[in-house]
Amino acid sequence: MKKLVILLSGRGSNLQVLLNAKLPCNIVAVISNRADAQGLEIAKSRGITSVVVPHLNYADRTAFDIALAEEIDRHAPDLIVMTGFMRILTAGFVERYSGKMINIHPSLLPAYTGINTHARALQDGVKIHGCSVHFVTPTLDAGPIIIQAAVPVLYNDTADTLAERVLHEEHRILPQAIRWICREQVWLNRTGKIVTNRLEQPGAPLFSPGLG
Ligand code: GRF
Repeated sequence: MKKLVILLSGRGSNLQVLLNAKLPCNIVAVISNRADAQGLEIAKSRGITSVVVPHLNYADRTAFDIALAEEIDRHAPDLIVMTGFMRILTAGFVERYSGKMINIHPSLLPAYTGINTHARALQDGVKIHGCSVHFVTPTLDAGPIIIQAAVPVLYNDTADTLAERVLHEEHRILPQAIRWICREQVWLNRTGKIVTNRLEQPGAPLFSPGLG
């Protein structure tokens, strides 16, 4: 079975979903830059190795990334999954794991990279928002997209209600992306493009507000 390492900084709801999903791979370690990340407790409660690499202990990003890479490599993962890992990573770190590291981001990329995605989407008045799973490349939230889910933005949405609707879909697309990669149905080629041997291209348009 392929081995996964999860990187997170907070709540860990995506981790929880992955632990409950029947994935064709094993989560071998959960690593956080924050000792108070709730996700670490979830890992511990499921008997999964949890490790803290506190970013404040390191002089700069490069030093932190070296320590993080050492910890990751100890577990020899096939895939590294970032679920709310709130650190900007150096290009050297990202390139070391090229094609082996994915991230879940709460927007329909390339729109709304970075933070506060739901509030910014509401501010702009977009009618469709969502989430993306993508391979990680040195530019923040700009790597090749594996899968996206779109949700309607409702007239009375707040950032919290919109975040909740998006999170529900994050919990569906992240396990799917991991399954595809672990089954070698989706991968990144040498030119940095997504390759897939899945032929299905289903899907229906989403109208928001609805037609009629
Ligand atoms: C998710 O919204 C994810 O898209 C973002 O951080 C959040 C992590 O949530 N990058 P959780 O810690 O998995 O609950």
